[in-house]
Amino acid sequence: MKSSIPLWQRSSFRIVGALVLLILLGGAVGGIYYTQIPPEQPIPFPHNFHIGIGAQCAYCHTGAATGPTAGLPTTDKCWGCHQQIEPRNDNLKLVASYGSEGKQIPWVPVAIQPDFVFFTHQSHINAALTCETCHGDLTQMTVAEPQRGQNMGWCLSCHQKMSTPEDFVVLSDCATCHY
Ligand code: HEC
Ligand code: HEC
Ligand code: HEC
Ligand code: HEC
Ligand code: HEC
Repeated sequence: MKSSIPLWQRSSFRIVGALVLLILLGGAVGGIYYTQIPPEQPIPFPHNFHIGIGAQCAYCHTGAATGPTAGLPTTDKCWGCHQQIEPRNDNLKLVASYGSEGKQIPWVPVAIQPDFVFFTHQSHINAALTCETCHGDLTQMTVAEPQRGQNMGWCLSCHQKMSTPEDFVVLSDCATCHY
């Protein structure tokens, strides 16, 4: 059962929220010192190599410019190229086994916010932000690496930097980012 009172309108939540806000803003700085290691993926997909041969981010992450989620490529997309590629090592054999059976590859999420956070790619891409701003330089990565310190303070400080004081009223409203 979900309560009918939105989370951010409960007074206890507001008080806790104000405290948490302070802690989180501190955390944005603290986060820089933590080392974050990418989770193990079913296949060590090399971003660097594929971007190097000319594959665009939008070719595999088709939703970023038009909606909330960027999305991950289906196995068909890999297989489109890989069915013509000789599976001459273990990683290529793995791709071929998923591809020939048409099975989805169970990728482990890397860039992920808690369920109670609303994020949408579209407005950020429309505001001319690059993928690299938030996800790091994928041309240097194999699998995607989690980025440090991407907490509430991170969102809010960029919103403040990139908006007028009037727009910041909306862009810092709890309901803009919390359901
Ligand atoms: C635009 C064509 C293209 C697409 C799309 C593509 N690949 Fe590749 N991929 C290649 C080529 C070319 C190679 C190099 C093969 C070689 O070394 O013989 C490669 C190499 C690889 C390798 C081997 C790295 C190594 O260890 O040698 C892996 C793993 C891989 N791709 C996974 C994937 C997965 C998973 C997808 C889908 C998400 C995908 N690829 C989509 C063209 C593509
Ligand atoms: C303003 C920061 C920002 C920018 C710019 C951005 N992203 Fe994201 N991206 C995020 C956040 C935050 C998440 C986690 C969203 C969630 O869990 O709700 C995410 C999630 C993702 C995911 C995983 C799941 C999904 O579909 O949402 C992919 C893939 C992704 N981004 C690709 C991209 C690509 C490609 C670009 C450039 C076209 C891009 N992002 C630009 C912040 C950003
Ligand atoms: C050939 C397809 C392909 C291309 C091109 C590609 N990606 Fe990916 N991307 C993937 C696959 C497959 C995964 C899942 C494995 C992983 O996390 O590395 C992924 C994962 C990601 C994630 C983490 C998603 C999550 O689930 O949390 C981000 C962020 C991302 N890519 C950004 C980019 C950006 C930015 C570019 C362009 C510079 C790009 N990708 C180009 C296939 C691709
Ligand atoms: C620009 C987007 C944004 C706005 C505006 C925003 N938040 Fe958040 N908030 C987040 C993100 C992202 C997280 C999750 C990451 C983290 O824990 O820092 C979060 C986490 C939280 C948490 C932590 C919950 C937990 O379980 O750790 C609380 C509490 C919270 N927000 C309250 C608020 C309150 C109260 C407001 C209004 C004053 C607010 N937020 C405004 C983005 C936002
Ligand atoms: C690097 C800067 C930057 C970061 C980081 C960032 N944002 Fe934003 N965000 C923007 C800009 C710019 C806009 C667009 C403002 C506009 O359209 O006027 C925006 C707009 C939004 C909107 C409004 C969408 C709409 O169209 O109504 C939401 C929701 C949002 N951001 C959530 C988040 C959350 C959640 C995070 C952190 C997980 C985050 N943003 C991180 C720059 C950023």
